[in-house]
Amino acid sequence: MSADPHLRTVAPAWLDEPDDANALAPAVWPAGAARAEDGVLQFGGIPATLLHERFGTPLWVLDEDEVRSQARRTLDAFRAAAALHGAQARVYYAGKAFLSAEVVRWVTEEGLAVDVCSGGELAVALAAGADPARLGFHGNNKSVAELERAVEVGVGSIVIDSLIEIERLAAIVERRGTSQSVLLRVNSGVHAETHDFLATAHEDQKFGFTLTDAPAAVARIRELSGLEFVGLHCHIGSQIFGTAGFEESAARLVELHAQLREGGELPVLNLGGGFGIAYTSVDDPTPIEQLALGIADAVARQCEVRGIPMPNLAFEPGRAIVGRAGVTLYEVGTTKPVALDGGATRLYVSVDGGMSDNARPALYGAEFSARIASRASDADPTLVRVVGKHCESGDVVVDAEYLPSDIAPGDLLAVPATGAYCFSLASNYNYVPRPPVVALRGGEARVIVRGETIDDLLARDAGLSPAHGERVLAAPPTEGIA
Ligand SMILES: Cc1ncc(COP(=O)(O)O)c(C=O)c1O
Repeated sequence: MSADPHLRTVAPAWLDEPDDANALAPAVWPAGAARAEDGVLQFGGIPATLLHERFGTPLWVLDEDEVRSQARRTLDAFRAAAALHGAQARVYYAGKAFLSAEVVRWVTEEGLAVDVCSGGELAVALAAGADPARLGFHGNNKSVAELERAVEVGVGSIVIDSLIEIERLAAIVERRGTSQSVLLRVNSGVHAETHDFLATAHEDQKFGFTLTDAPAAVARIRELSGLEFVGLHCHIGSQIFGTAGFEESAARLVELHAQLREGGELPVLNLGGGFGIAYTSVDDPTPIEQLALGIADAVARQCEVRGIPMPNLAFEPGRAIVGRAGVTLYEVGTTKPVALDGGATRLYVSVDGGMSDNARPALYGAEFSARIASRASDADPTLVRVVGKHCESGDVVVDAEYLPSDIAPGDLLAVPATGAYCFSLASNYNYVPRPPVVALRGGEARVIVRGETIDDLLARDAGLSPAHGERVLAAPPTEGIA
């Protein structure tokens, strides 16, 4: 039991004090994580202390086997669920979750297509050798140059997000004398987040077309000979635990899908990503197999009601593929007990990274968990808040966690489930260099993205370059302007 009886009053209601603050909740950690007899956490057979010695901290660790097995599992789940209704399923890995050349290779080798949403993500996927025909291209504001490049390299499908984009893309395709498959992103009015979903007629957000506006957009696409309309696309949110939101969205989408079939074939229905993962010991997401069955059933039911054939399905999971494979290792720098109103004391544990390597808590109040990685401890658990080293009081890594009360400077701390949207959302706030990414496989660790150095950061500062002060642009003459 924790020594401080007041702590319960400041701990979040969902967080129970563990019997053993060294134990690993299996759903949160990669399958290759375990505490060895000496108490040190190992990842893929490699002790955290050795990773620290070799690569330093902060360090993003990515378990390749975990990524590959989640990719295979997800593809199998959606294929099997679609096959029950005589349809096929394609799974695009949503590159925004974590994109690097190695990760593109892993997921494509496991049979996934890839979705990208900027010219930069497209460049990474192509450089890694992804087949352009198995790439999907998203985004609410793709530039003309980005669309031009996508058409030039032969991207499989472009997900159209606005009327302006239809005309831009048509002009590019016509000039190049080619054709392009497109989907239309639709906003079904269903927004889902974890257990709950909200369904409205009009969602006040930037992506896609409303169900009301979509038919006119599709009619316009169909007038343009260079654009081939293949189906609707919808993404209802992130970190979704159940099928209810997808079912509601599918009902709305299939109605529109059936209506649009009257004007031509629609072979595909893309239902996006958003499948949830466990970030803390109390998170209990629905297994992907069950989600896949529920979603495919919902679409099939709606098609049956309307007497139309089941379309082929497409999905775009990101975090479900890479989230659990990632662990961030930090070194504890300082600890500080802070007295709170009501008599409780919260222990602040500061680590050598923070919101620059994990923006999710600051961006959306995301919850994470943590364990001491360099040793096991018999000390009583105490409630801690793990914070970073940045100049923001919102620079929180783990808002609330029970850790051994003897946690001290020099301990290594591991934060699991950081494979998705940590590396990809990283920044250089406070001129902190971004950490390396190390991949683990077969008892070996290798750098797949090198860490930044202070020199990398200084190299961008034109005030330090030899050309500093050279005039590169002069204001135009002002004579004649009233
Ligand atoms: C269009 C689209 N597809 C797929 C995803 C991936 O979502 P997740 O990583 O939650 O599966 C996102 C995430 O923002 C998205 O916007």
